[in-house]
Amino acid sequence: MQNKIVIFDTTLRDGEQSPGASLTPEEKVKIAKQLAVLGVDIIEAGFPVSSPGDFSAVKLVAQNVKGPVICGLARCTRKDIETCASAIKGAKRSRIHIFIATSDIHMKYKLKKTPEEVLEIAKESVKYARRFTDNVEFSAEDAGRTEFHYLCKVVEVAIGSGATTINIPDTVGYTVPEEFSKLIKNLINSVPNMDKAVLSVHCHNDLGLAVANSLAAVVSGARQIECTINGIGERAGNASLEEIVMTLKTRRKFFNLTYGINTKEIYKTSRLVSSLTSIPVQPNKAIVGSNAFAHEAGIHQDGVLKSKLTYEIMTPQSVGIPRSTLVLGKHSGRHALHKRLIDIGYRLRKNELDTMFQNFKNLADKKKYIFDEDIIALVEEKIEKIPECCSVDYYHISSGSGIIPVATVRLRLSKDKKIKVAQEAANGDGPVDAAYNAIDSLLIKEKVITSRPKLVDYKLHSISVGRDAQGEVITKVDYEGMSFTGRGTSTDIIEASIKSYLNAINRIVYNKNRGRQRRPPL
Ligand code: KIV
Ligand code: ZN
Repeated sequence: MQNKIVIFDTTLRDGEQSPGASLTPEEKVKIAKQLAVLGVDIIEAGFPVSSPGDFSAVKLVAQNVKGPVICGLARCTRKDIETCASAIKGAKRSRIHIFIATSDIHMKYKLKKTPEEVLEIAKESVKYARRFTDNVEFSAEDAGRTEFHYLCKVVEVAIGSGATTINIPDTVGYTVPEEFSKLIKNLINSVPNMDKAVLSVHCHNDLGLAVANSLAAVVSGARQIECTINGIGERAGNASLEEIVMTLKTRRKFFNLTYGINTKEIYKTSRLVSSLTSIPVQPNKAIVGSNAFAHEAGIHQDGVLKSKLTYEIMTPQSVGIPRSTLVLGKHSGRHALHKRLIDIGYRLRKNELDTMFQNFKNLADKKKYIFDEDIIALVEEKIEKIPECCSVDYYHISSGSGIIPVATVRLRLSKDKKIKVAQEAANGDGPVDAAYNAIDSLLIKEKVITSRPKLVDYKLHSISVGRDAQGEVITKVDYEGMSFTGRGTSTDIIEASIKSYLNAINRIVYNKNRGRQRRPPL
C-alpha cells in the first residue's frame, strides 16, 4: 500500500458551504492559486450546477490554476455531470466527483428511493461520468450511517463501473474514531475490487471528531483525506487541513506517511481564507489560531525561554509563523518581562527591572492584556523618558488618484544641545510610505542612523470619537536585529504616522547611546 496521503482540499466547495462564506469567482481563483503553492493534490473548486456563479468560478479555477487536479462536484444526474464536465474542461488534469446518499434515512426521506434504485443510479452515473474523464470519484453520502453490507455493494458496483476514487463521508459527523477506523478496515477486507480504487474519507466536525476520524481512517488504510483550510464547512465544518498535515508531520514516526504539503505556507493560506470568507479563526484554534504559539503562564514562559522543546511540539516557523509569542499578563514572570523589554529596545539595570516588575504586576491585575505600548508607558513614566533627538518641524504631502505620492519632511535634529533643521523629499507607494522614505534618507544623510529601519507593523486606530477624532498610530520597526515600537497621535493621520515613526527612531538612537555610553549590557 502506498505511503502517500492524497490531500483533497474542499475549502472552495464544502468550505464555501459555511453560512455566509460565499466567494466570488476571482476570490476562488486567488485561494486556489495559494492552495497550489501550499501543495494540495486536488482542489474541489465548487458545485458547478448549483449556480451560474459557481460554474464560472470552477471554470476560472480550471483555466488558471496549475499543479493540482481540479475537481467539480455533481449529483448523480446527467445534467449535473455534463455541467461539471463542461466547467472543468479547461484544466490540465481534472476530476468529476459524483455523490448519492446511501443511508436508510437519506434514501427514505430525502431521495424517496429504494436501495436497489440508488444502486442502479450510482452505477449508471459513474459510467456516464467516465465518458468525460478517466478520473471519477464516487461518494456514498452519509456512509457513516449506511448499513455495512449495502455500503460494500455500492462501493463494489461504483468501482466496477469505473470509479477511481471511493469516498466514505461521515456526512453528519456522527461516528467516533474507533468505529470509523473499523469501518474503513472492514471495507478494505470485504469489497473484492477495493484495491482498484483509492479509498478516501470526508469527515464532518459535528462532535469535534473530524480530524480524529480522518486520522483513524488513514491508520486503517484510507489514502485520501478530504479537508478544508481552517476546518470551515457545512455546519460545524470539515476536518481541518492544517491539523491533519501537522499531525502527520509532528507524529511522523507514529504514522509513517508522507504528503505533498509545504507546511510553511499553512499560515498564509489560513489568513487568506479567513479574510476572503470573512470567517475569523478562533484564537485557540490548533496550528493557526493567534494563541497557538503564545505562552502566558509564568512557568511556561520560563520553560520556553530556556528551551522551546518544553512547551512547543512543533515550531511556529514550520507553519509559516515567524516566531512564538510570550503574552504578558498577570501570570507572566520576571524572565518574560525582561525578555520583552529587551525585544522592544530597553536594557534596564537590575534595580530598574525590580521596579518595573512591581509596576507591571500592579498593572496586570487591572488589565487583561499588557501590550508593548503599556510597557513603554511604564518605563517612560517610572524609569526614564526617551530624549527626542528628532521631531517633525514641517511636512507637506502631495497625493491623489493617478499621481505618485511625494512627501517633503523637515525635521528638527538635536545633538549635544544643538538644534539643526534639515529637509528631504521622497516618493513612495502611498503618502505614509513617501514620508517614511524621506525621513529615512534625511536621517541616514545626517548620520543619525546608518541604515533604513524595517517597518514590520503599522496600526492606526481612533482614540476619540467623531470626525475630528484623534488617530493613534503604533509602528513597529526592526533595526540592527532589535525591535522598536513607536507611538504618535494627531487629528491628522499622516502627522500621527510621522510622529509614531520618529518616536520609534528616537528609541533606536536612545538605545544606541545608552548602550554605548552609560549602560553595559545586563
Ligand atoms: O459531507 C458530504 O457527504 C459531502 C459529499 C458531497 C461528499 O460533502
Ligand atoms: Zn461534506
